[in-house]
Amino acid sequence: MIYYFTGTGNSQAAARFFAEQMGEETVDMAVALKKRELSCRLGEGETLGLVFPVYYWGLPTVVVNFLSKLKLSEESPYVWAVVTCGSSIGAADRQLKSVAARNGIQVNAVYPLVMPDNFVPMFRAPGEEKVKEILKKADGRMEEILSGIRTRDGGDQSGFRGLALSASMQALYRNGRKTSHFSVDPSCVGCGLCETICPVSAIRLVDGRPEWKKEQCALCMGCLNRCPKQAIQYGKRTRKNGRYVHPGMAAEG
Ligand SMILES: Cc1cc2nc3c(=O)[nH]c(=O)nc-3n(C[C@H](O)[C@H](O)[C@H](O)COP(=O)(O)O)c2cc1C
Ligand code: SF4
Ligand code: SF4
Repeated sequence: MIYYFTGTGNSQAAARFFAEQMGEETVDMAVALKKRELSCRLGEGETLGLVFPVYYWGLPTVVVNFLSKLKLSEESPYVWAVVTCGSSIGAADRQLKSVAARNGIQVNAVYPLVMPDNFVPMFRAPGEEKVKEILKKADGRMEEILSGIRTRDGGDQSGFRGLALSASMQALYRNGRKTSHFSVDPSCVGCGLCETICPVSAIRLVDGRPEWKKEQCALCMGCLNRCPKQAIQYGKRTRKNGRYVHPGMAAEG
């Protein structure tokens, strides 16, 4: 069983790759949380996979929430995680292990996977050629990770250990999640996609335009990057930084 969380499709594409190779099923963590489907029963010899993006060197709120509520029927299955990132997962491996351990789940292996960076409030979105280049490298890395999972290895042990720095990154995440940073341009056509895809139901369409009804969100960047009119902005830089959506997710619409 492979549980994933995604804002712009990288982690979904990676989860699908591993599921296909291993003959397993994928489940979206945000959907499982909304439907309260949080009991997991694994088949004989089946592993538990977790695939999600790193946010500010740590875990997205949805992943923390999901891992705190997941009920595993097996005693100690092999649990592996693939953390997608633009460059570095920082201390996410350590946070993941401790959050899961609090719910009695031991994470055996964590693998960072570099994919295109979707955080356009800070960085310019990679162009088409760059995206192809990064995804090609990611394909090779996923093959390596797959053999690690198959041999039940211990994952990447080179984790970042800067405690103070990762604590300040988490404070930045808390501040960044304030939905007051979002705004909508007049180019919005009221299609409702942003409302439908928000993993934490933080958006509601009012008179055909999105309003953020919660004070904080997961900051997945799904609404902003996937809006067909690029009408959603966050802070000052997103108007010029472009947008990123994994080609597989973009093709699905
Ligand atoms: C709020 C936020 C914070 C991020 N922080 C980091 C980070 O600390 N390090 C990093 O390498 N990438 C960071 N990224 C980039 C994503 O982790 C990366 O693009 C990921 O593959 C996106 O996955 P998704 O397409 O499944 O949503 C961040 C992205 C977001 C939205
Ligand atoms: S996805 Fe974009 S165009 Fe559609 S309702 Fe939301 S902001 Fe408007
Ligand atoms: S409001 Fe936008 S960025 Fe925040 S969780 Fe919802 S889709 Fe993601």
